[in-house]
Amino acid sequence: MAEIVIVPSPAAAGVLVADEIVTLVTTRPDAVLGLATGSTPLPVYEALRPRLQGVDVSQVRGFALDEYVGIDPNHPESYRSVITKEVVEPLGLDPARIHTPNGALATISHAGEDYEREIAAAGGVDLQILGIGTSGHIGFNEPGSSFSSRTRVKTLIQQTREDNARFFDSIDDVPMHCITQGLGTILSARHLFLLAFGEGKARAVAGAVEGPVTSSLPGSAIQLHPHVTVVVDEAAASQLKNADYYRYAFANKPDWQGL
Ligand code: F6R
Repeated sequence: MAEIVIVPSPAAAGVLVADEIVTLVTTRPDAVLGLATGSTPLPVYEALRPRLQGVDVSQVRGFALDEYVGIDPNHPESYRSVITKEVVEPLGLDPARIHTPNGALATISHAGEDYEREIAAAGGVDLQILGIGTSGHIGFNEPGSSFSSRTRVKTLIQQTREDNARFFDSIDDVPMHCITQGLGTILSARHLFLLAFGEGKARAVAGAVEGPVTSSLPGSAIQLHPHVTVVVDEAAASQLKNADYYRYAFANKPDWQGL
């Protein structure tokens, strides 16, 4: 089962995950990070900034979860641009070592396989940061996605386009298609951190953690992974039936156990 950590605020979640990343990078300077975009991971990237001061990050590698298809990579909302602005530049990472799936139309027919090859060549992802959509998606694996899927093109559901319209001038500007790591790709990472904040994520979190394992709620795929840490605030945890047990287990966690 995943370990569920209920924290008082997104900032506290950011510190918890950032500390794990710092430990990883300190022990393994060429660690491979799985990077999410959207609002959820921002407190992690924020908390990493001061904590990585003085840490050698020149070898750190990273793979973003997804990208919009057909978007100009220089568009401010392309995930390439977002990762550059939120992660690469503030943390001083080497841009050549940080990858996003290639959403260019000219090469889209093999972009998924190309990305899988790059991840495999890096030895796989050590620590994957995940958000979850209101539809229960992780990456952009919308309901119905196969648990064994690898990086490929998906069609965004209307709800996701509406959710992401806040980043664009209008919903019409939100691309219809994306290229995303598959659920199988995500499950191949060695340690998953799924973060969620706010009431709007409570249903998806409860489904992912306590619901049946079903492709109708792709986040429930985390139940198949041996090492998952779910970090949620009180609002996102509000529909978890066993929340008291998760609090009790975390409060009584032996020091030697780690996350
Ligand atoms: C982003 C991603 C998505 C988001 C999810 C939540 O790379 O893969 O799964 O994590 O849509 O988005 P936010 O964090 O903006 O609520």
